[in-house]
Amino acid sequence: MYTVILLLIFSYLFGSIPFSLIISKTFYNIDLREHGSGNVGTTNTFRILGKKAGIVVLVLDLLKGAIPVWVAMLVSTDVDFPVVIFGVVAAIGHVYSIFLKFKGGKAVATGGGAILAAAPIIFLVVLAAFLITLKLSKYVSLGSVLAAVALLISVLFTGDLFMIGFGIILGIIVIVKHISNMKRIKEGTEPKITFM
Ligand code: G3P
Repeated sequence: MYTVILLLIFSYLFGSIPFSLIISKTFYNIDLREHGSGNVGTTNTFRILGKKAGIVVLVLDLLKGAIPVWVAMLVSTDVDFPVVIFGVVAAIGHVYSIFLKFKGGKAVATGGGAILAAAPIIFLVVLAAFLITLKLSKYVSLGSVLAAVALLISVLFTGDLFMIGFGIILGIIVIVKHISNMKRIKEGTEPKITFM
């Protein structure tokens, strides 16, 4: 029981680390919250700081979701231990960070890392939904929303209650956090990517 509580605390605190903000402030003297979409996430890092910083933040944010799941897998001796819980807690940490007065990002990369570690096949389905939407629409946010919809549908096929709970919580968080992006798409003010 103590191990589970410690793992939950670790997952939340680890997920809370705002890598994009740390990198933007430390190496670029920029507060990411005051630029672009104002989001402390991978997309806004690419947008404001460029490819190098964007890739570093993408990897770190993916690891924020994956490492708690991998640690739970290592610590647990029970094969049925619901390790996905720690991934969703890390994603919640990213969105409601204790280091940012309970504000944060939109859970896409951190949630993606959690899915990658807990359910690699579902990760591939979600990634495909993201990439196809991005290729066709050029909107990262729309790709994120359709990836969340793909997650919500995919988890239903697992028949695993924890996996379904994980998918529903993460999927809903991602969709709700993108409402402002969807409004911007409707108004025609959401930025499109210029590559792909
Ligand atoms: O990863 C979040 C992405 O889907 C949207 O980011 O900065 O355009 O709001 P942003």
